[in-house]
Amino acid sequence: MKDASPQTIYLSNYTPPAFLVEKVELTFHLNPEKTRVVSKIKFIPNPASQSGEFFLHGENLTLVSARIDGQEVTPTITETGLTCAVPNAPFTWEAEVEINPAANTALEGLYMSNGMYCTQCEAEGFRKITYYPDRPDVMAPFSVRIEGPHPVLLSNGNPTGAGDGWAEWHDPWPKPAYLFALVAGDLVNHPDTFTTRSGRKVDLNIWVRPGDEGKCAFGMEALKKSMKWDEDVYGREYDLDVFNIVAVDDFNMGAMENKGLNIFNSSCVLASPETSTDMNFERIEAIIAHEYFHNWTGNRITCRDWFQLCLKEGLTVFRDSEFTADMRSAPVKRISDVIALRGRQFREDNGPLAHPVRPDSFVEINNFYTATVYEKGAELIGMLKRLVGDDGYAKALDLYFDRHDGDAATIEDWLKVFEDATGRDLTQFKRWYEQAGTPRLKVTDDFKDGTYTINFEQETPPTPGQLRKDPRVIPIAVGLLNPNGDEVVPTTMLEMTGAKQSFSFDGLAARPVPSILRDFSAPVIVQRDSTNDERAFLLAHDTDPFNKWEAGRDLARDVLIGMVRDGAAPDDGYLEAMHAMLRDDSLDPAFRALALGLPSQDDIAQTLHETGATPDPQAIWDAGQTLRQAMAQKMQDTLPRLYAQHQVSAPYAPDAQQSGDRALANAVLGLLTRLDGGAQAQRQYDAADNMTQQLAAWGCLLQAGKGDAATAAFFDQWQDDRLVVDKWFSLQVVHADPADAVETCARLTEHPDFNWKNPNRFRATLGALAMSPAAFHRADGAGYALLADWLIRLDPVNPQTTARMCTAFETWARYDSTRQAHAKAALERILETPELSRDTTEMVSRILG
Ligand code: PHE
Ligand code: ZN
Repeated sequence: MKDASPQTIYLSNYTPPAFLVEKVELTFHLNPEKTRVVSKIKFIPNPASQSGEFFLHGENLTLVSARIDGQEVTPTITETGLTCAVPNAPFTWEAEVEINPAANTALEGLYMSNGMYCTQCEAEGFRKITYYPDRPDVMAPFSVRIEGPHPVLLSNGNPTGAGDGWAEWHDPWPKPAYLFALVAGDLVNHPDTFTTRSGRKVDLNIWVRPGDEGKCAFGMEALKKSMKWDEDVYGREYDLDVFNIVAVDDFNMGAMENKGLNIFNSSCVLASPETSTDMNFERIEAIIAHEYFHNWTGNRITCRDWFQLCLKEGLTVFRDSEFTADMRSAPVKRISDVIALRGRQFREDNGPLAHPVRPDSFVEINNFYTATVYEKGAELIGMLKRLVGDDGYAKALDLYFDRHDGDAATIEDWLKVFEDATGRDLTQFKRWYEQAGTPRLKVTDDFKDGTYTINFEQETPPTPGQLRKDPRVIPIAVGLLNPNGDEVVPTTMLEMTGAKQSFSFDGLAARPVPSILRDFSAPVIVQRDSTNDERAFLLAHDTDPFNKWEAGRDLARDVLIGMVRDGAAPDDGYLEAMHAMLRDDSLDPAFRALALGLPSQDDIAQTLHETGATPDPQAIWDAGQTLRQAMAQKMQDTLPRLYAQHQVSAPYAPDAQQSGDRALANAVLGLLTRLDGGAQAQRQYDAADNMTQQLAAWGCLLQAGKGDAATAAFFDQWQDDRLVVDKWFSLQVVHADPADAVETCARLTEHPDFNWKNPNRFRATLGALAMSPAAFHRADGAGYALLADWLIRLDPVNPQTTARMCTAFETWARYDSTRQAHAKAALERILETPELSRDTTEMVSRILG
């Protein structure tokens, strides 16, 4: 739906709602094409507002009737809602509207997925269900009656009655409309119970399509662990009699925290050893925890307006990271989070889509569910915790829940509880929320008369609409090592507040080797001239697992840059250091698997770009291949031993230990395949009894150009499992040679199972191309053109997913003029499409700059 003149919305224009809602009663008469929604809403004038103007959001609704206090009224209806003359006193609004769930392909509002009814209301989907003040600062208790011929009829809160063809629900906790949910269909459940610490018994259910019952057990365990963890660590107890989770196949995002009725993309909840990888299991556990944790951080305390999105998302991501760190390995979680942060958020922060963690304007809020709001938002909380300490953090959080339970709060409220609980002034810290861009932290050092001095200088490059940046407070965790490898100064938290600042350590016998930004204590880019010897030393001796990993990564990055820019050969010092690391059996296998990985191609491209060079994606890919080959050769005697040593003989369990062993063995298999041409990978493929082993082996075969038989066999085996078929689409593109990945992708879009209207399938296929830099940025522009064709096709059907996938283009301006011209042409072709959605229009315009 083209919006004639997309409006920019500003944080500074916030005004409180004119009317508050005391309670809402909804009745749904379900029908695929003609669902009737009857609403009865008690409004009261808001004493905090002077406006008195009555406006209800509503889109794509057919109003059948409207009454105020029982009297028929005729509202003025526009594209975005309605207005009506109302009493200046409490009144009851009643309306009946008709909607068409079967025609709703955008997957926002009430829609259908495989014959099942389902809703998605965040951020502004409720207005597609009925007329309502669809803004998060209007909170109300909801009562819902659902009528329809479906065995399962679900909504938020507690069940209050049910019979043949109907069910009633009441949610006592006031909530904004974006947390409303309804599900109806022919579903089966995996039930369980949880007893809260105060002794209340809660019924838990995971609802799935018949046939998927066998894939719920892991998710249920994750849910119970999450409930327990939130009680133990944050003192937060669940607050309803039931907690329902529903799996749906058609979903734009990962999952949604609707009160008491979480709705999940089936890929984020269904799991079995045969069909899910270790990584899938870990991700499912984290997402279940994330949505559950929203019950307190998001639902009980929500956001005043959508500019405050990071209030719930940054905090909830931070909480789910803490949870995973507790359930599994903290260092491995931290390293994985930083890899993801650099891959997505740094890329965003250093391109045309850069925006503050709390943006101050937007056109379409759906475009702001970003790595910056989520992942950088979580990093800010980690920094706060480092600055005020664990006790300060615990006190601040207790105060936050005490003070703001039931509120729609702001970042100001959030920072105030930290100030009040700890006495610390956070004025400067607030800049992290307001300024976009990744600070560069330049580091130099001196040593004289036993005193070691580190000098820091911070600078943040300009971002769109924000040219000048003020210095931020940066917690820098530092440790010092003796030349013999012993730690002489344990981790110390330095607080940088100025643009330039120095810190000294005295009484040292020799010049130490610094370990800077331990545990990645702030989301910045460290710039320091360091030698490969020093990095190899840190890789061998650093006591901080993150910086140990980081040292190896820095080495790899410099080696790759040297290979790409100067045509250097693979550096033997690097190969030696990696080999030593790999053979060190005292190191966690999962850590070694991570350390064996190379920095991403995109990371190398960004680094080259920053040094003033024009990155060549094909050259970067080639360098990676050459380096991998050299690693394989260097380590050839070690690889078979390691591979054998880390085979898991116990029955499959997706726990940290087993998945660490498999991750290492499969990383080793990748190298081995470069030596044996795929013989071992084929044996592993043939013997695999779980998806982790099967997929890793098939990936190696594909990369070796020996995958055809496995590709056919894999499809044959899994064609009836849609989540595994997604993997089948994705991996063929991911592991294709960049020279023909575009053709592979195009061929797959002609496959009868390429249901392009399903976001998972679309992302598996086209998203895989977008994530393969050498293929997507192919010099002849074929990658850009293929993605543009499909985005143009998808936009009228599903604007939200289209707009998100436009981010594939966000790095276009760093490449050479030929590539730039092709990318620009593709972007302009998208932008010129008649009736282009507001979502995609905003994204493409911002990317073009
Ligand atoms: N609020 C959801 C989450 O983080 C994400 C989401 C946003 C889902 C918008 C659907 C639509 O957890
Ligand atoms: Zn969330």
